[in-house]
Amino acid sequence: MMRKNKLINETRSLNELEWLMERVFQKRGFDFREYRRNTLIRRIGRRLKARSSKTYKEYADVLDKDPGEYDKLFNDLTINVTSFFRDQSAFTALEQVVIPALVKKEAKNIRIWSMGCSTGEEPYSIAILLMEFLKQNIKKMDITILATDIDPRALKNAMKGIFSNKAVADIRPSWVEKYFIPAGNNFSVRPELKELITFQTHDMVSDPFYHDFDLVVCRNVLIYFMLPLQIRVLKCIHKELKQGGFLLLGKAEQPAAELNGLFSCVDRNARLYRNIPLQNTGIEWNRKRE
Ligand SMILES: C[S@@+](CC[C@H](N)C(=O)[O-])C[C@H]1O[C@@H](n2cnc3c(N)ncnc32)[C@H](O)[C@@H]1O
Repeated sequence: MMRKNKLINETRSLNELEWLMERVFQKRGFDFREYRRNTLIRRIGRRLKARSSKTYKEYADVLDKDPGEYDKLFNDLTINVTSFFRDQSAFTALEQVVIPALVKKEAKNIRIWSMGCSTGEEPYSIAILLMEFLKQNIKKMDITILATDIDPRALKNAMKGIFSNKAVADIRPSWVEKYFIPAGNNFSVRPELKELITFQTHDMVSDPFYHDFDLVVCRNVLIYFMLPLQIRVLKCIHKELKQGGFLLLGKAEQPAAELNGLFSCVDRNARLYRNIPLQNTGIEWNRKRE
């Protein structure tokens, strides 16, 4: 009997959570409806506690009375954890496989998209590797690094390009010297590195995708999405990658089985993939909710 009651309460609570997410979307346009339930329960739970709300319905009243609470909710739901050269194997693969392949080819430009870039450590790390490789190989190429995130606050910090001592501790000292300027207790990214990157807000759930990339880096975001949303986003990425373009995912991420044939695996440990042209896959492309 107690187990049955617990189950009924959990189901009611899940229904209320879905109701709350729909309401937040209708009122403010934040679309977290297809984020993983566990993440939502954990993160919204913090807001409930902070505002002494016992249920999602009570919390909805708080949102109605205090619209500033929406921003706090948004901040809790966009998890900005990141670092320079996060996950060694990914950056080794970029340095040893991807960048040499992109620089070797005949093309005069390289187009890279860092999606869900948070406060910028990821695109700056990629830019450092590219600069190093081009210098060593005495090569000049037009480089476009588009770095996007749903969170304007994170992007504002990314654009400033000022990082603490602790943040730059993950970067090789010779590169810190080359690409950063000491500024008190912090380090400021040198203009020539900053120039390579365009930071922009972009919501991968609802905004149109940009086109024609040699490399898309989408790490540690898909883990927060439910499977149908992951699949939709990866299909969009596939469409916007050039033929044979690279995709780098986060350590705990991989293309779902439903996407078999869209990406070939280059390095499983690094989560590095390459796209296969759509006409060879038999998979239909559909951006709409399924
Ligand atoms: C954990 S961070 C990952 C940062 C970086 N890619 C890394 O791996 O270090 C996740 C980022 O994804 C962003 N994000 C979450 N949902 C998003 C969406 N729908 N569209 C774009 N960015 C999103 C968050 O704002 C956050 O900055």
